[in-house]
Amino acid sequence: MDVSMDKIVTLCKTRGFIFPGSDIYGGLANSWDYGPLGVELKNNIKQAWWKKFVTSRLDMVGIDAALIMNPKVWEASGHIATFSDPLVECKQCHERYRADQIDLSKSCQKCGNKGTFTEPAAFNMMLRTWLGPKQDASAEVYLRPETAQAMFVDFNHVLLTSRKRIPFGIAQCGRVFRNEITPGNFIFRQREFDLMEFEYFVHPSEWEKHFEYWLKQMHEWMEECGFDKSKIHELEVSPEDRAHYSKRTVDIEFDYPFGRKELYGLAYRTDFDLMKHAEKSGEKLDYTDPETKEKYVPHVVEPAFGVDRTLLVTLLSAYHEEEVEGETRVVLRLPKHLAPIKLAVLPLSKKDELSSVAEPLAKQLAKRWRTDYDETQSIGKRYRRQDEIGTPFCVTVDFETLEDKAVTVRERDSMKQARVPLAELEDYLSKQLGC
Ligand code: GAP
Repeated sequence: MDVSMDKIVTLCKTRGFIFPGSDIYGGLANSWDYGPLGVELKNNIKQAWWKKFVTSRLDMVGIDAALIMNPKVWEASGHIATFSDPLVECKQCHERYRADQIDLSKSCQKCGNKGTFTEPAAFNMMLRTWLGPKQDASAEVYLRPETAQAMFVDFNHVLLTSRKRIPFGIAQCGRVFRNEITPGNFIFRQREFDLMEFEYFVHPSEWEKHFEYWLKQMHEWMEECGFDKSKIHELEVSPEDRAHYSKRTVDIEFDYPFGRKELYGLAYRTDFDLMKHAEKSGEKLDYTDPETKEKYVPHVVEPAFGVDRTLLVTLLSAYHEEEVEGETRVVLRLPKHLAPIKLAVLPLSKKDELSSVAEPLAKQLAKRWRTDYDETQSIGKRYRRQDEIGTPFCVTVDFETLEDKAVTVRERDSMKQARVPLAELEDYLSKQLGC
């Protein structure tokens, strides 16, 4: 279904997925803090990605590099020269905008003045700081705007220690920083966000085959995340819009409530980065085929996935409203492996004889699955609360439990209930949850 951003933002705030950052001080320029449910959902996304693209494959290894790299990295990669967006300023009120995101023939959104913008100028998006006690140009460093560069800079170390042969990939997942001119649309465009990406090193003659393969894998990933397929589109990025390092880029776009915009990117980075780093550092960054003895600089295909956009599209796709017994039920139909809470143990009422069974049961289940325990409010309200945060199963302990040593397990999407003996409960849930 189509859901408004207001509904998602409100759900995130009221249920503990995502709060405005530094809220008690009035916030800070579109920064967001992930709360108790948000952090679980985010971790589940990262783990599912790492499992699919790294640990379940023989041709992929991971790294976790420093966020601050030698500034020469960014000179070589071209980020200092070209990682910029076009900036315009209203001559009247000095409000700044991204030139490609507003209609320059219209009035300034802030002061209403028309036709008063400066000419677009390149605004570098890297965040700068100083390392160590000096605060001068010699100590100037950048917070990384992408994780990719460490995969190129560490290429020789990884190749030597992992003993991988081409084709193979190096993956990384971590925080990146971009001084966006206009952050916004909730977590869609932020100044710090998490990125999951890998550099897949291939023989130069084979990049097209690998490009097609990874594009299909990206679609498979989106299906596993439960994304609304009808809202996913591919965009062949034109040469003038491609990043400086790319010879082909396909953007995966999504129809967000605020319009069709980028979700992920797949780029053919050629040998651009390895060549530039070899040139600047003086270190050879090439590969010798152990069988043919052919020596070459590998080419790179790079799928890049924003974690926060993944989370946003997961929520947008999972959100459903439906009529149940004359009332509106909000349900997050999250894929089970992504759901922040897997189980809720709910004693039918707040009575000691029920709690004495339900609480130890919840503690036992929590050893295997993220489990919530809730004994206040009516059972109907508690079911609705769990539906709203996407909990796949509720386990209800009632007075019959004391007699028949069984509990009621309610499934989120169908709302069907099954009576399951306590002795078989873990096996039953393990089958249902698939983990
Ligand atoms: N290494 C390639 C690279 O960084 P990118 O298209 O600039 O490519 C990759 O970024 C992904 O990061 C995007 O497809 C998107 O999912 C996410 N992303 C980019 N800018 C973002 C921002 N300001 N806030 C949140 N996510 C962002």
